[in-house]
Amino acid sequence: MGRVLVLHGPNLNLLGSREPEVYGSVKLEEIDAALAGLARELNLELRSVQTNHEGELVDQIQQARGWAEVIIINPAAYTHTSVAIPDALKAVGIPAIEVHLSNVYAREEFRQRSYLAGVVRGRILGFGPESYLLALRAARQFLPQ
Ligand code: DQA
Repeated sequence: MGRVLVLHGPNLNLLGSREPEVYGSVKLEEIDAALAGLARELNLELRSVQTNHEGELVDQIQQARGWAEVIIINPAAYTHTSVAIPDALKAVGIPAIEVHLSNVYAREEFRQRSYLAGVVRGRILGFGPESYLLALRAARQFLPQ
């Protein structure tokens, strides 16, 4: 059974009430429930963690060694600022998929830079909560057959 770790970065715990015109009205718990349902369907084991702290994301990536076979990560604002997160992904060598709810290229210029872009296997953005579900489907190609 493939094992997938989903990491949600800062402020994503506020989904549902946070800038609904940008992020919609779906809550993080609903996204996690949809992911859990799809994981069951695809016969995958899934763990999901949200944190507001960059160092905690680094710790989670390091601790994923030996368990996760794919990491799906929405680093939220740290996408545009963090060197530590891509360094951690490189260090552990676990294939990662970057996810965003919004189309960051249609927003402020500072959101158009991702420090993870060169480290992840692929990026899915702009589809709202569906971005995560597409990422989970895509994750299967990085799992041992
Ligand atoms: C986000 C986009 C980021 O620019 C922003 O800081 C977020 C959410 C997204 O999912 O669209 O917090 O990662």
